[in-house]
Amino acid sequence: MQTYLVGGAVRDELLGLDVKDRDWVVVGATPKEMLDRGFKQVGADFPVFLHPETREEYALARTERKHGHGYHGFSVYSAPDVTLEEDLIRRDLTINAMARDEQGELVDPFHGQRDLVNRKLRHVSEAFTEDPLRILRTARFAARFQPMGFEVCEETMALMRAMVADGEVDHLVPERVWQEIQRALHEREPGTFFEVLRDCKALDVLAPELVPESPFSAALAALRCIHRQQGSTEERLAALMSPLPEDACNARTKALKAPNDCQNLARLTVVFIPAMKSLASNQLTGESLLALLDAADLWRRPERFSALIRVLPCSLPETDRTAVTLLERAASAASGVSPKTLMEHGFKGKALGEAIHAERLKRINRALSQTPS
Ligand code: CTP
Repeated sequence: MQTYLVGGAVRDELLGLDVKDRDWVVVGATPKEMLDRGFKQVGADFPVFLHPETREEYALARTERKHGHGYHGFSVYSAPDVTLEEDLIRRDLTINAMARDEQGELVDPFHGQRDLVNRKLRHVSEAFTEDPLRILRTARFAARFQPMGFEVCEETMALMRAMVADGEVDHLVPERVWQEIQRALHEREPGTFFEVLRDCKALDVLAPELVPESPFSAALAALRCIHRQQGSTEERLAALMSPLPEDACNARTKALKAPNDCQNLARLTVVFIPAMKSLASNQLTGESLLALLDAADLWRRPERFSALIRVLPCSLPETDRTAVTLLERAASAASGVSPKTLMEHGFKGKALGEAIHAERLKRINRALSQTPS
């Protein structure tokens, strides 16, 4: 039996990048031999094992055949006679389909190294189409390696377009899509992920409301801005969704099954954007602003409000950005109201609620009457 280092570890080492995970392929072994050597099987159906000491993944060389649409129609064939080349040919991109043998020799039947040098993201074979998630993976690798000059090559883009036209993307489960989006949002050039998806028309399926030029360019500009500030996942998604109307934003983040914190920040962002325009032109009353702060639950969720304050400038036109300073000032003034002090002054029950409201409003109005610095 032979063991090969494969996939991202080989790619990243050739690119001179840090190698995070190492994956191995084992040729010429049976599951029983692996178990006898002390490896632990990962899943019941997949011939993947964990090394007893390093805990790294060792997969038996395998071929996969497709029986239906999307992610469920897989059957795995793994046997000692499956060769390394047969295993590599069913992988996604040539740069991910290289191996290193135990002597350190590169095994590269699909010219991954040439594509690395030429900065091309190219599918290995027609087997690419067996897994529609690879469209998102390819877009994500484009987002990661774009600053190094990589791009999706024309043949691969054509294949991805054909897959989208065949309805392959319709069958992806939201959890997998979200997982890719979440990772892509933190890649080095996150906007490229969405550009590639738009180019191959997958975005028409995954987030059609972002496709038209105007929301698309605004979404990417907001994303670029929050990326520069190393925003959290929540902030990045909120920036991306910020050009959308409230209903469309809510429906999309829900359909994507983004975590609740992501959905909530995106919702707040699109609620605050029109209010910021009014605030910038002095057309927002203290009462309306207080209602917004109540809706944002500033009082119990100050950290979420801080996230909102980071996203808003990225999501607003330059001319409206001064409003964020005003908002921050009003929010900070209103937050200073102490229910405890009011209770000590004898307020309780409904009267206490009204006194808190009145005091917050007074402070907001005072903050709004000062001109922004
Ligand atoms: N792979 C694939 N198709 C997929 C998922 C994975 O062909 N849908 C193959 C690729 O050869 C890939 C390897 O499995 O290199 C390991 O996958 P993964 O760990 O997800 O990706 P890496 O390439 O290691 O990238 P990352 O740096 O993001 O972990």
